[in-house]
Amino acid sequence: MNTKTNSSFSGQIGFVLAAAGSAVGVGNIWRFPYLAAKDGGGLFLIIYLILVLTFGYTLLSSDIAIGRRTQKNSIQAYAAMRPKWKFLGILTFFVPAVIMTYYAVIGGWILRYVIAYVSGKAQLAAEDSFFVDFITNPRDSVLYAILFMLLTALIVYKGVEGGIERCSKVIMPCLLVMVVLIACYALTLRRTAEDGAVRTGMQGLRVYLMPNFHGLTVQRFLQILLDAMSQLFFSLSVSMGIMITYGSYVKKEVNLNQSISQIEVFDTGVALLAGMMIIPSIYVFSGMEGMNSGPKLMFVSLPKVFASMGAVGVFVGTAFFVMAAFAALTSCISILETIVANFMEIFHTSREKTCVSLTLLYTAASVVIALGYSLFYVEVPLPNGSVGQLLDIMDYVSNSFMMPFISILSAVLIGWIVGPQWIIEEMEYGGHPMRRKAIYIFMVRFVSPVIMSILFLQSIGLFSL
Ligand code: PHE
Repeated sequence: MNTKTNSSFSGQIGFVLAAAGSAVGVGNIWRFPYLAAKDGGGLFLIIYLILVLTFGYTLLSSDIAIGRRTQKNSIQAYAAMRPKWKFLGILTFFVPAVIMTYYAVIGGWILRYVIAYVSGKAQLAAEDSFFVDFITNPRDSVLYAILFMLLTALIVYKGVEGGIERCSKVIMPCLLVMVVLIACYALTLRRTAEDGAVRTGMQGLRVYLMPNFHGLTVQRFLQILLDAMSQLFFSLSVSMGIMITYGSYVKKEVNLNQSISQIEVFDTGVALLAGMMIIPSIYVFSGMEGMNSGPKLMFVSLPKVFASMGAVGVFVGTAFFVMAAFAALTSCISILETIVANFMEIFHTSREKTCVSLTLLYTAASVVIALGYSLFYVEVPLPNGSVGQLLDIMDYVSNSFMMPFISILSAVLIGWIVGPQWIIEEMEYGGHPMRRKAIYIFMVRFVSPVIMSILFLQSIGLFSL
């Protein structure tokens, strides 16, 4: 029987690429650039970078070290640390369990665009109504969500080394090359607007990189800080048991400190490059007005930019959506894998059986969520002030509500009950020094609980800036 105990990544490269695969997702490609544009360009970037090296580092190290030290998935791992804290493991397990209901739906949207570009319908994809027509069409939106779900399931079915690692080793280097090429191309863009003004990609780069202190107040600074924090959290796939599961597949001889630095660099690098590709493109073709938030940026504004590039736009658009599909796929794999692994551990079932049963369950769930824009359309006011459909509700529950809450509890458990030394020992296993040890201890004991509490209160609407 193919149980978890004998699954592992073949070595450091396999682990780093799989973990980076989980971390690099739609968050890097559409959310990061949008936040950077909204939050003062370089100012946001500086804050984000400082946070990655301190706060993000702490969260990522904790998850991965817990996984490798206990050799278990979230539910059993927290129970192994302190039996009374098993509830935290169960809570953590629910985050991917909820995210999985909608992630394949977003994957399906991206797949729809890949197909549109590949089949020569780039002009159609650039029309205003294309996106809304697609997601409100029950048959098509369901079809693509199922397709993406099955693609994910196939790789998880093949196991840790033969499925996840093998596919990450191909996909992640391709993704990196594509994002670098598109970003370089974006910098060469040049266009004369109707009013005669010339806008270039290099000017767009300045908008992106130069810190904009204009109108900066304490309140705005705190808002930028919170934006950067929640982005970081989502981007590194932490506090949802995913990195615990991946950590449990890491062999003892792997140097965790080095691996974690590499994952941070990969995730942040792709986010920065995505900004370098999106902000100048939008700037050149539609000024800053094109900088929509959320799905509209990727699915409505960008196809228009590609369309205005002429023939080369079809090529760039195809490359962009294939890259986005890769990013979404490796993230979706990590979510399904975490759920499968927890089930296998608890019920002692085989990977194959568990994977098939969960795939059936989540295909049904994805169908329901995909229909949330047609048959099951609702408008529910959320505590953070927005109004959401089924997908937004699931996203709110998992990311805005559960993740910060879990992070607070996990920081308390590590910082004050088990003690940071427990993590540090694992990080230093094999004689690899943990250079950011002092930062780790300070962050996990003092900073994380406070910051996560503020983020949590803000998400549930009890605190606003
Ligand atoms: N980290 C991914 C991103 O940046 C998102 C993700 C969320 C991945 C949840 C896995 C699980 O887009």
